[in-house]
Amino acid sequence: MRLCRVTTALAVLASTCLKPNAYSTLSDSTIRQRFPRSQSRDFDIHTGPILAPILIPRVPGTENSTKVLDHFVRFFQGELPEWNIEVQNSTSKTPTHGNEDVPFRNFIASRRPPWLSDGHVGYLTLVAHYDSKIEPVGFIGATDSAAPCAMIMSAVRSIDAAMTNKWQKMQETTDEFELEDSNALGLQVLFLDGEEAFHSWTATDSIYGARALADDWDTAMYPARSTYKTKLNSIDLFVLLDLLGSGESLPIPSWMQNTHWAYQHLAKLEHRLRKMGLFKSDNSQTWLPEKDKKNDAIFQQTMMQDDHIPFVARGVPALHLIPSRFPSQWHRIGDNAEYLDIPTVEDWSLLTAAFAAEYLELEGSFEQAPVVKRHEEL
Ligand SMILES: *[C@@H]1O[C@H](CO)[C@@H](O)[C@H](O)[C@H]1NC(C)=O
Ligand SMILES: *[C@@H]1O[C@H](CO)[C@@H](O)[C@H](O)[C@H]1NC(C)=O
Ligand SMILES: [Zn+2]
Repeated sequence: MRLCRVTTALAVLASTCLKPNAYSTLSDSTIRQRFPRSQSRDFDIHTGPILAPILIPRVPGTENSTKVLDHFVRFFQGELPEWNIEVQNSTSKTPTHGNEDVPFRNFIASRRPPWLSDGHVGYLTLVAHYDSKIEPVGFIGATDSAAPCAMIMSAVRSIDAAMTNKWQKMQETTDEFELEDSNALGLQVLFLDGEEAFHSWTATDSIYGARALADDWDTAMYPARSTYKTKLNSIDLFVLLDLLGSGESLPIPSWMQNTHWAYQHLAKLEHRLRKMGLFKSDNSQTWLPEKDKKNDAIFQQTMMQDDHIPFVARGVPALHLIPSRFPSQWHRIGDNAEYLDIPTVEDWSLLTAAFAAEYLELEGSFEQAPVVKRHEEL
């Protein structure tokens, strides 16, 4: 991604967002019981069943890219069987492939309340790109964005049962008519391909997957009388994680005024989790320092170029979680597995999970279970 001036037209579009949905905070006891600190196995860089398979070069159209895509499919099919999985395909020429059409494949997984058909569900949408840059040769892109993909996978798995419980209870206790009318949100994951430029970042040499998907979803209409006109309209909030997972603790500004409310919720949650001692990484830092920034303050006139751009340009509200100063190994061969600070990766996953749980109003939907003992490292 790249930092650039936001055009006036874009800024105007971006402010015409959907009304934010209700949001309800989790209780301390739910957080303590349901979001314990020990998940280390997922994120082991050599054997972690979620993270390790992503830590290979993943250039679009290559065998390794297919391997990572298969890993996503296997994970959701195996561990999240209630989710719908889809791969959206497109092709494009690139500055470095001559006449060749390079394939781009976006991974899409979603889960919605079972009584609602697709055009009637708004989605909290968690997004990261899974491709890696073509050079330097052997580039892994551990923070860019292998780790963010893994954070999202682990996060959605940790709240999946609560979604089941919530919806079952709603079906048992609400009459059909009211159910139809209920405004329950679904959860959606996008792992986008072709974010990186092949030659150098331009409007046409970057975010290949995101551009293809935004285009598709803008024109694919839901049936008449659906709540939402298109798949694009049904994105309640587009949360994009990028360049996260190094131990450098780089602050993330609130980039956009129309999603500042969501940034503030996330920042409050970060603050709470730190105060409760649930973070494993350096607890003296703050990732989201603009919690108290006023809504009418001036938001940066700059905006980071990234996968959210084609969505924002069509009016989708986006929360862009990317530090304003990039990690020191950004786009260098050193952005490899060892560069990751695993406690930071785990903490981001925890924060993402708790945010999604609050966004989907899952308080009270986690089954009662004995308090999980905090796992202390030896
Ligand atoms: C594919 O991934 C493997 C690691 O599993 C790596 O050794 C190999 O170099 C990668 N291939 C390409 C073309 O990057
Ligand atoms: C995308 O291509 C794959 C084969 O590579 C295919 O299995 C899948 O169904 C395609 N997706 C769509 C939406 O057509
Ligand atoms: Zn990058």
